[in-house]
Amino acid sequence: MNKNLKGIILAGGKGTRFRPLTTAVNKHLLPLYDKPMVFAPISMLMLMGIREILVVTNPQDVEPFKSLLGTGERFGTKIEFAIQEEPTGLPDALLEGEHFLNGDPCAMILGDNIFHGRDLGLLLQSYNQNSGATIFTYEVDDPTEYGVATYDPSGCITGLVEKPQNPDSNWAVVGLYVLDSRAVEFCKGIKSSSRGETEMVDLLNKYLAEGTLESVKLPRGITWLDMGTPENLLQASEYLRLIDMRQRLKVAVLEEIAWRSGWISLAELRSAAKYFKNSQYGDYLADLCNDA
Ligand code: TTP
Repeated sequence: MNKNLKGIILAGGKGTRFRPLTTAVNKHLLPLYDKPMVFAPISMLMLMGIREILVVTNPQDVEPFKSLLGTGERFGTKIEFAIQEEPTGLPDALLEGEHFLNGDPCAMILGDNIFHGRDLGLLLQSYNQNSGATIFTYEVDDPTEYGVATYDPSGCITGLVEKPQNPDSNWAVVGLYVLDSRAVEFCKGIKSSSRGETEMVDLLNKYLAEGTLESVKLPRGITWLDMGTPENLLQASEYLRLIDMRQRLKVAVLEEIAWRSGWISLAELRSAAKYFKNSQYGDYLADLCNDA
């Protein structure tokens, strides 16, 4: 595990596909079953062993995020916030993390992506980066809405195309990128595309061109869902609800992950259960305490 690896969550954007839900509320605060959507990417970073996390969001949304997450201490992490004045693209958003990163590598995750699967954190921890970049791909039925990766017969990545109309493969690039300390400098040289945004593919192509882009195909035991539309968010909510109902396991409960990682004590878990009492989330934390 690279101890310097920091986490960045991109939780800005326009959220146009969710309007009018997102007219007054940031997309990443909408309900993912029984918790705010942003708990999903936070939990992913925590499972990777990352405790220093920056949330990048729009100017008007910083305060609600602060109310929700505080300093992060409650769940064993240190959360900071940065403002992206305009949603002008993902590499632009990463630039807002320059001060926070202070020359360290990072795992950058899109705020509307959720991952779930056994030993997922362990799997991803093995890709903590000192040099180059790592992306993860997932085989999907229709990759036209995503960045798409192509591979040679030996499994090495050969190309990346953003939202191709006629994709050459079904391997979509998921919203989690492990980037070395040069990523911010690379972002500074990226110009807006015809869509009026800086594109992630342009950053990744810089690593690809110098031969330092690693692309890992996620195994079928891992679930990846993008929550970028109301339909997709509802599906993700139903997925979490199904696991909750069938297995009595909640996904993306931050205090549980912190406690299991040894970052907060049983007493702190108990006080979180008390804080959230009257909710299913709180009952779940109370059950964990009783079973401990
Ligand atoms: P998108 O889903 O591509 O864009 P969006 O969230 O603005 O939504 P829509 O297309 O419906 O208008 O963004 C992917 C993720 O990246 C999402 O979680 C928001 C985040 N993001 C930023 O933080 N800053 C940005 O400038 C952009 C474009 C996105």
